[in-house]
Amino acid sequence: MLKHISLLVFVAGLAGMTAANANESAPAADPAALTQKLAACGACHGEKGDKPLAPDYPMLAGQHADYIAAALRHYRDGRRNHPIMSAQVKALQLTEEDILGLANYFSQQKSPLAIIHR
Ligand code: HEC
Repeated sequence: MLKHISLLVFVAGLAGMTAANANESAPAADPAALTQKLAACGACHGEKGDKPLAPDYPMLAGQHADYIAAALRHYRDGRRNHPIMSAQVKALQLTEEDILGLANYFSQQKSPLAIIHR
């Protein structure tokens, strides 16, 4: 009997892991909360991440999602420090779901930057 129970717990754990993995590829964050956070980013990076407020504010539109997510995690964890961005990430209390959602959104926007092939 005990054996069956531990098997059940194990299977339930696996199911949970699968759900978490599914989340990573298509984050189903609370859309209203994400919209609110996107609006905050838009103030400096442009609504679609394609119109930075100043020349030294980076372009997010079209950037690789994993690069954006890594940068946001680095600000959150203090591995990368910038007075403005570190404060943003802290104030907005970005969760892993937010990070994936924001990274996905900006990576899918059309970038005005181009790669010149010679
Ligand atoms: C008040 C202005 C401001 C706001 C609001 C803001 N950012 Fe930034 N962001 C900056 C600046 C300035 C930098 C450059 C920081 C640096 O050099 O590390 C930056 C850098 C970044 C980077 C690193 C880009 C790279 O090329 O390395 C990412 C990713 C980013 N911001 C995402 C976001 C997201 C997502 C939000 C919303 C949650 C946001 N930012 C909100 C000003 C802002």
